[in-house]
Amino acid sequence: MSQPKVPIRRNEGLDQGETIDVAEIHVAVIREKPEPKEGFEPLNLWIVAGIAGLLFWGGSYLTAYSGRFEADEFSELQHGRPVAVAAVAEDPLAKVKREGMVTFNGICAACHNEDGAGKAGVAPTLAGSDIVNAAGPNRLIRIVRHGLKGPVVVNASVTWNPSGDPSVVMGSQWDAIGASEAKLAAVLTYIRTSWGNTGSAVTPQEVSSVLAETKARSTDDNWTMEELSKIPVSGSGASAAAPSELTPEQLKEKLKALPADKLQELLKDVAK
Ligand code: HEC
Repeated sequence: MSQPKVPIRRNEGLDQGETIDVAEIHVAVIREKPEPKEGFEPLNLWIVAGIAGLLFWGGSYLTAYSGRFEADEFSELQHGRPVAVAAVAEDPLAKVKREGMVTFNGICAACHNEDGAGKAGVAPTLAGSDIVNAAGPNRLIRIVRHGLKGPVVVNASVTWNPSGDPSVVMGSQWDAIGASEAKLAAVLTYIRTSWGNTGSAVTPQEVSSVLAETKARSTDDNWTMEELSKIPVSGSGASAAAPSELTPEQLKEKLKALPADKLQELLKDVAK
């Protein structure tokens, strides 16, 4: 059985065997716009406005803070070059006090406490002590060099170890501070100028001259306040080198400059 020969018609309406024109009935579909597909929707205008706003803000921010896009704008150096700054000289007293504090906290604070207030039953207060605030460091240098025993009148309201308990002593701290005149001067400067104390700074020269006077003393031979009270609080004691260089006029000026209570104390000492 063979197919009848029917000529195939192209673009002429119905195809062979068709009863309806498929192209004809799809005309409406072809004419309409295509269905929107995912990925091709128009952008939401709010997003467009938002991005425009961000761009505007970014531009204004850069205008204000870009540092003109110069690499060295935020450098510590002015336009990349070092700025001449006057060297700040360190206050020499502050330096000595700092060194004294290191010695104090390392050695003395074990008994006298870091705030200098002392510890009950261990050691008396250095804050507000008349011995520490005395016009000169003569006795202080001796106390640290050779130690102290017996009763101590610290100030008008504190008498330490009134019974003179022999087990309550401060031994020589000379070796503990490294047997250094500079360190002794620094630690005394620190205690005389801290915690409300009003003493003057202590120089290594003062330490040196007092140590020369106590050379003969044995390190274990602790001072008593009775002995110390016979030693002038300031000046270099017996040798009196520095004060003798003053004219009587200068000495008078110096004495006048002292606070009244210190002057009284000094005059009492001199009268002894
Ligand atoms: C082991 C404990 C101890 C240490 C460490 C010590 N002290 Fe003392 N200190 C004492 C005692 C205890 C007394 C009272 C001694 C007495 O009873 O006679 C005293 C008394 C003193 C006094 C006279 C009293 C007063 O309150 O003003 C001074 C000043 C002093 N010490 C300074 C120092 C300094 C400065 C150092 C560090 C270099 C030091 N001490 C380290 C225990 C200590």
